[in-house]
Amino acid sequence: MAILVMHPDQEFVGEVRGVDLRNPLEKDNFSKIHEALDRCAVLVFRDQNLTDEQQIAFSQHFGPLETSIGTIRKDRKLRLPSAALADISNLDENNNLRSTSDRWRMMMLANQLWHTDSSFKRVPGKISFLSAHEVPPSGGETEFADLRAAYDSLEQVTKEQIEDLVAEHSIFFSRSLVGYTDFSDEERAALPPVPQTIVRTHPGSGRRTLYLASHASHIIGWPKPQGRALLDELMTFATQPRFVYQHRWRAGDLVVWDNRCTLHRGRPYDDANLRRDMRRTTVEDSAPTLAHSRLLKATRL
Ligand code: OGA
Ligand code: MN
Repeated sequence: MAILVMHPDQEFVGEVRGVDLRNPLEKDNFSKIHEALDRCAVLVFRDQNLTDEQQIAFSQHFGPLETSIGTIRKDRKLRLPSAALADISNLDENNNLRSTSDRWRMMMLANQLWHTDSSFKRVPGKISFLSAHEVPPSGGETEFADLRAAYDSLEQVTKEQIEDLVAEHSIFFSRSLVGYTDFSDEERAALPPVPQTIVRTHPGSGRRTLYLASHASHIIGWPKPQGRALLDELMTFATQPRFVYQHRWRAGDLVVWDNRCTLHRGRPYDDANLRRDMRRTTVEDSAPTLAHSRLLKATRL
């Protein structure tokens, strides 16, 4: 039977023990994991060693999976067999290390900026599942920030100021921050900028949360520098060490997180020489954030 062991210092992190996710999931265990995820936002499962199929099967219990944007680069051959798997590795389609000048490798460096998955899509990511196949002996950790706790700690005036603000998110903005701008018109047209509310109510816990990412370039309706400054300020506030958990990977780990109320980023490692093979599946959210917030407001009236 699954048991949840809370992290000693971070109330948004728990380790789930007593389940082997390679087997079909029992109903009771699914309910326990779902409840734990609504409470914690980041769940660690050690020693799982999932195959791609087992990872996909487990993820699908939480809803329909999104298609990886790996398919956006038309010139890129995929290493992993399914469009549901995002390839979070430094390996090419032959399973060899990518060269340091490789375009896809450069694009992946943007994962080292704080973000939440797929906030650049109209319907963003809800839950992500990241499975570690090969990990470097040092570096390459993943950090998570608790955006419900960060929201709770904001000054009341800030809460009032940001309540109804909407930010514009674009994958091409976060990529430009790491100096990568080389996309065709067709690729840009496939992922146009989208609006996302910067405050949300997290459905599973009823708690308020910030919703931020390096994909967010400005606040809609505000002068760009002013919006950028506010977003930077909130991001700096929300990623203070007191809100952050660092996960040190072991091969076989599965880490699951709720993108609606967390930020995450990868940490650097010697990626020119060391292999890191991680694979992500992501369940998509049920609606765009604006539609969700309008619905909540309407039902409160
Ligand atoms: C991801 C991601 C960071 C990392 O899988 O979505 O951002 O540590 N990963 O690889
Ligand atoms: Mn990510």
